[in-house]
Amino acid sequence: MNRETAQDRIVKLVGEIEHHNRLYYQEDRPELTDTEYDLLFRELQELEQRFPDLATPESPTGRVGGAPLERFTPVRHRRPMLSLENALTEQDLLEFDERIKRFLGMTSGEIEYVCEPKMDGLAVELVYERGILSLATTRGDGITGEDVTRNLKTVRDIPLRLPTPDPPPLLELRGEAYLPLAPFQRLNQEREENGEAPFANPRNAAAGAIRQLDSRITARRPLALFCYAPGEVEGQTFISQTDFLTTVAGWGLPVNPLTRQAVGTARVVEYFRELGATRESLPYEIDGVVIKVNSYPLQEELGEKARSPRWAIAWKFPPRQATTRVEAIVASVGRTGVVTPVANLKPVELSGVTVSRATLHNWEELEKKDIRVGDTVIVERAGDVIPAVVRVLTQHRTGSEKPATPPQACPECGSEIARITGEVALRCLNLSCPAQVRQSIIHFASRTAMDIDGMGNRYVDQLLRLNLVGTVADLYTLTRDDFMQFDRMGDKLADNLLTAIQGSKERELGRFIYALGIRHVGEQTAKLLAAAFGTVENLSGATEEELLTVREVGPQVAESIRSFFENPRNREIIARLRTAGVSPTASERQLGGRFTGVTFVFTGTLTRFNREAAKELVEQEGGHAAGSVSKKTGYLVAGDDAGSKLEKARSLGVRVLSEEEFLTLMEGAEKP
Ligand code: IVH
Repeated sequence: MNRETAQDRIVKLVGEIEHHNRLYYQEDRPELTDTEYDLLFRELQELEQRFPDLATPESPTGRVGGAPLERFTPVRHRRPMLSLENALTEQDLLEFDERIKRFLGMTSGEIEYVCEPKMDGLAVELVYERGILSLATTRGDGITGEDVTRNLKTVRDIPLRLPTPDPPPLLELRGEAYLPLAPFQRLNQEREENGEAPFANPRNAAAGAIRQLDSRITARRPLALFCYAPGEVEGQTFISQTDFLTTVAGWGLPVNPLTRQAVGTARVVEYFRELGATRESLPYEIDGVVIKVNSYPLQEELGEKARSPRWAIAWKFPPRQATTRVEAIVASVGRTGVVTPVANLKPVELSGVTVSRATLHNWEELEKKDIRVGDTVIVERAGDVIPAVVRVLTQHRTGSEKPATPPQACPECGSEIARITGEVALRCLNLSCPAQVRQSIIHFASRTAMDIDGMGNRYVDQLLRLNLVGTVADLYTLTRDDFMQFDRMGDKLADNLLTAIQGSKERELGRFIYALGIRHVGEQTAKLLAAAFGTVENLSGATEEELLTVREVGPQVAESIRSFFENPRNREIIARLRTAGVSPTASERQLGGRFTGVTFVFTGTLTRFNREAAKELVEQEGGHAAGSVSKKTGYLVAGDDAGSKLEKARSLGVRVLSEEEFLTLMEGAEKP
């Protein structure tokens, strides 16, 4: 393809992808399947790699992140990013209002305020130059932040180009980037399964994602953003906060829909109470209300103190913390066999919920926090369903408190438990451990895995109690009579369950791989594995090297997949699933080629074949040819005089092929 055709195609692809992004993310009515979308996206990525100078800064490919950075570049804010003074009581709010009136010399009348939810995330600044997102920074110390542009480009809420014909020449926006509760909880669950310490709250998780040197990791955490203030702006005047919010919302920027105008403190108090009551049902975590003088001329007149403006205040909700006693510390076993400590607490009320258990994450953390049975502790609920122990009130110790030690054997089945190298977690090694079996069946049937409608905790527990299942394969041999033994089961319900089980036999291969519950293999990785290997048999026979050529698969994941399929018990379960008629289907694209999802890089002088022809060959087989080497490169094909790319590949442990070896690998394909 020549430059000119490439340019035309790139413009067309960018337009199409943006259109489909809008349909998907904003209008919630996608027209393309994931695979169709991926095809467009990959084509654009490849063209941009082949013609790097044709890639524009607002290209949607920026949304998936790029190779890791060494460090972040510091950036000085054009205007300092201030913080806010806190109010903890209604009295504090009234004093704030009085100070403002005094400062403005007002003897009567009320101030017009804007009330906004105080998001619990990380303050960031976005800079749009002539409508194009050119820079995104963290707040840092308020004077100097860090350039996190690549990471913030992965946030789908943030337009890369303002959809307005005449955007202002310069528009700086401040806002809060946050991680909504659903992905926050998912992330923490994953971390616990991997034996990593979970994030204490969504703010830490968001900050961790934004300050990731590897933007591809950020891309996997679905951050969101609400804009709340202008920075430096040229070519546009806002007369008030409401004017600002409605204008930028019109430019496609997300602003919090719960924002309200409130004239006088009585209305502000009303808003604070109402928002406090809905707090628990919001899909994201807030920690208070930010109250701002609406008029910008008045804001200017009020000015600022050293670190915070006089025209705004943050009225915080009381923390969702409570003091209680640890009655016992018990060990609990999860799906992957991780044995974690859990504190049984004297029941205590925490913002409307009675709490009687708190997770202690892992045994190391338990030791670090030195939590003992009998201790008085502070527990906190921070956007999580399961509360955590914040710290021990050691002043309440009497000397009779008892430290807990990790169990020597699995608390459920009594088998051996061990610490896997490189992990903090302890695991039960018995794959038939009832706790693991229970969790693995629930996972297998769950909506994002095999999607067996109705097969939740309750029925799985009954199946286990009646000894009707021992592994996931047994689900497929259940009969109507089996179900009829359940408490309160009717004909109709039993039939529905049977139909749901039968209906799951032909799920997509990616779902099936995910459903197997291989450690470290999440939904996304499972999809990529399905695409790369096409069948379970191919996957189970894959060598570690072959596995490593798949995007997102590193040594730890490859090792986990290998040992899963080496386990005779797992092999038997898969064979029995097959016999029962479970035959996951690979979509067309998945069958496309042997190298789907695998990235090749060519370097040096190639004498045995033509570079373009070789790239085409790779692409025919579903692979992808890239220009530079990274951890995710599957193979580097090195000709004569290969230089820095070869060195880099070696240092990263990327497989290096000679031309000859490449040809062998491609055997069966037409020789270039
Ligand atoms: S306005 C000068 N509005 O709270 C005004 N801040 O405690 C700057 N925050 O650093 C901030 N939601 O990270 C504003 N609706 C909102 C906010 C908000 C959360 C955070 C922000 C700021 C911190 C100050």
